[in-house]
Amino acid sequence: MAVRAPKRLRVAVLVSGAGTNLQSVLDHCASGAIDAGVVLVFSNKRDAAALDRARRAGVPTEVLEPSGLGREEYDAKAAAIIDRYGPELLVFAGYMRIVTAGFVAHYPDRIMNIHPALLPSFPGVHAQKQALDYGVRVTGCTTHFVRAEVDAGPVILQEAVPVEAGDTEETLTQRILEREHELLPRSIQLFAEGRLRVEGRRVRIMPPAGERGRA
Ligand code: GRF
Repeated sequence: MAVRAPKRLRVAVLVSGAGTNLQSVLDHCASGAIDAGVVLVFSNKRDAAALDRARRAGVPTEVLEPSGLGREEYDAKAAAIIDRYGPELLVFAGYMRIVTAGFVAHYPDRIMNIHPALLPSFPGVHAQKQALDYGVRVTGCTTHFVRAEVDAGPVILQEAVPVEAGDTEETLTQRILEREHELLPRSIQLFAEGRLRVEGRRVRIMPPAGERGRA
């Protein structure tokens, strides 16, 4: 009997910048470390370096620049483009736009974001600088489902990163990024395995399929 390859989750990654998280997702997909494939990289910025990473990996790219478009109009157009690729999950990997409630509702519990702090501490931009300025000893990174409120959705996974005495924004950013590059693929894999259940504010992580229902 033919062995069927496991179904791979269709992922669209939304980016605005360097795309190191995108690269990590692409690498984990290519090596088979996660049961997912990137079907589209979408950017609101034509010059995002992340687009070159997508092209090198042979992944389709789409760009929609916001000039002249209202937020609702932009998000409606973006969703129409994204939907042509049939993604099952959207991943915001450094996507620097605040999305509308309509966009979020169009993908219920199907948008994941990665943020470089332990939410709900330090939401918004420059989270690493916020952490340094506040003087916390520990910060980190968070994956969460996206809600219309910025960086406020149910938490999927978090990883702590200690702040060191000599840290600058750059050194702290780099150490957090290293953790992000593991946390995001792990979160996508949990989604691919159907193990994430959103219950109000909380995300329950179910046991692997083979272990469910055992006493
Ligand atoms: C990451 O720190 C991510 O957590 C934040 O934006 C940054 C994107 O970096 N949302 P990159 O484009 O993945 O390198």
